[in-house]
Amino acid sequence: MRQSSLVVVANRLPIDDSIAPDGACEWRRSPGGLVSALHPLLRHAPATWVGWAGGTGPAPALPDVDGVRLCAVPLTADDLRDHYEGFANATLWPLYHDAVEQPQHHRRWWEAYQRVNRRFAEAAAAVAEPGAVVWVQDYHLHLVPGMLRDLRPDLRIGFFLHVPFPPPELFMQLPRRAELLRGMLGADLVGFQRVQAAHNFAQLVVKVLGLPATDRRIGVGDRVVRIGAFPVSIDTAEMAALAARPDVAARAQRLRQDLGRPERVILSVDRMDYTKGIEQRLKAYSELLAAGHVKVRDTVLVQVAVPSRERVGQYQVLRERVEREVGRINGEFGRVGEPAIHYLTQPFDRAELAALYRVADVMAVTPLRDGMNLVAKEYVAARVDDTGALLLSEFAGAAAELPQAYLVNPHDLEGLKEGLLAALRAAPADVAERMRAMRAHLHTHDIRAWARSYLTALNDTGALVERLTSGGESARLPAQPGRSAARADHRG
Ligand code: ADP
Ligand code: F6P
Repeated sequence: MRQSSLVVVANRLPIDDSIAPDGACEWRRSPGGLVSALHPLLRHAPATWVGWAGGTGPAPALPDVDGVRLCAVPLTADDLRDHYEGFANATLWPLYHDAVEQPQHHRRWWEAYQRVNRRFAEAAAAVAEPGAVVWVQDYHLHLVPGMLRDLRPDLRIGFFLHVPFPPPELFMQLPRRAELLRGMLGADLVGFQRVQAAHNFAQLVVKVLGLPATDRRIGVGDRVVRIGAFPVSIDTAEMAALAARPDVAARAQRLRQDLGRPERVILSVDRMDYTKGIEQRLKAYSELLAAGHVKVRDTVLVQVAVPSRERVGQYQVLRERVEREVGRINGEFGRVGEPAIHYLTQPFDRAELAALYRVADVMAVTPLRDGMNLVAKEYVAARVDDTGALLLSEFAGAAAELPQAYLVNPHDLEGLKEGLLAALRAAPADVAERMRAMRAHLHTHDIRAWARSYLTALNDTGALVERLTSGGESARLPAQPGRSAARADHRG
């Protein structure tokens, strides 16, 4: 088994299998924020990515992708149902997103969660070279840091949560709250998107586990676990370069033509998820149409909503409701050849997404709660000429970094309508000033800066940080210092 000095452990691998037009199985980049963030980063690092390849049954042998070794963890049909669809996406996901849907609890799901976390921990232990850095991602794998520390005490272990971490009163509902917290505390560094999330975590370890904690450090026996906020980002330069490409510009022009040359194009790009506020947005748009504030001939809404977690009941219900509402709005307000909403459920390649971002005069990103929302950042990065208005929910992590966006509370229907109209009618100078400020922020706060700050905090190893964040040629990394050195660092 080949071993690496950097191992990323995430539920999903950066590729998904799909069926090509000729019926053959092919691999394509999987949609979702985690993959978008990490994939560009690891391309030039001598890293192994441990994760699930989609589907059930034996793990496929996968080719390296852009120099990243892929190590697939097999899931059975029961694992998929009870771990991924159950505990991860029907218990933790809704609870972590303000319980906007009711979290469900089943003891069988917890058993699967432990079983699958152990399998991921064992797979990571097998591919990590002595003293390696292992970076565990997200809520599917809360127990992996603790399990891994037992299996391989020589490793430097990081954990990063891409989604919100809820306030104590919500987290306390979890029957297995203590085990989840202990699992995360197996890491040397626990990272969150926002300062408030780190604060929530510190409060919980005091309350549930009785450990000494501040918002930066937690004492766990003879170890100190550090915690902090590390807002994730995108490959800003890559998206800007893509959006500036002549073929992408030409595609954007064609798209505008195909949309009937409206004065204003509003775009939304979401996974089909109840946290994304799609229904609330459609309602706001429909009321603006009904009141005559927005006219179909002048303005179109393009809603991209790629299906997600399709076997989970709450997602099936959402998709039905969204599609019924899109049908109703188009039936009521559209004309032949002029729908009010262009509704697309397909995954697009990066160039097509960039063209869509370029054609959008207003980008409506209005989740009810979101850890970060990389779509908002991608839109900003793609607006290379400083045009375009970003309508952004206050409840997206991105709002803390992009205060120049047109900020709205998506729970407030009237506020949402006013925000949308303000973005549609904004003066070009105001739009440009805001966009310039947001682009400047993302220029310095990109995915490499994120990795740099996280890995520096985890493991002051200049070589690793340099290689990952420069996007340069790969080379073997030096072995990381062992646990005693790590302990000394953390006390420093
Ligand atoms: P989440 O992680 O909840 O899905 P984010 O907005 O953080 O939300 O990330 C979504 C990522 O998935 C973005 O990088 C976006 O470009 C990508 N994405 C969303 N919809 C599509 C689609 N239809 N086709 C391809 N990529 C998509
Ligand atoms: O951002 C949260 C997250 O669960 C990521 O881990 C993942 O990239 C994305 O949403 C997509 O979800 P899934 O992997 O369930 O399709």
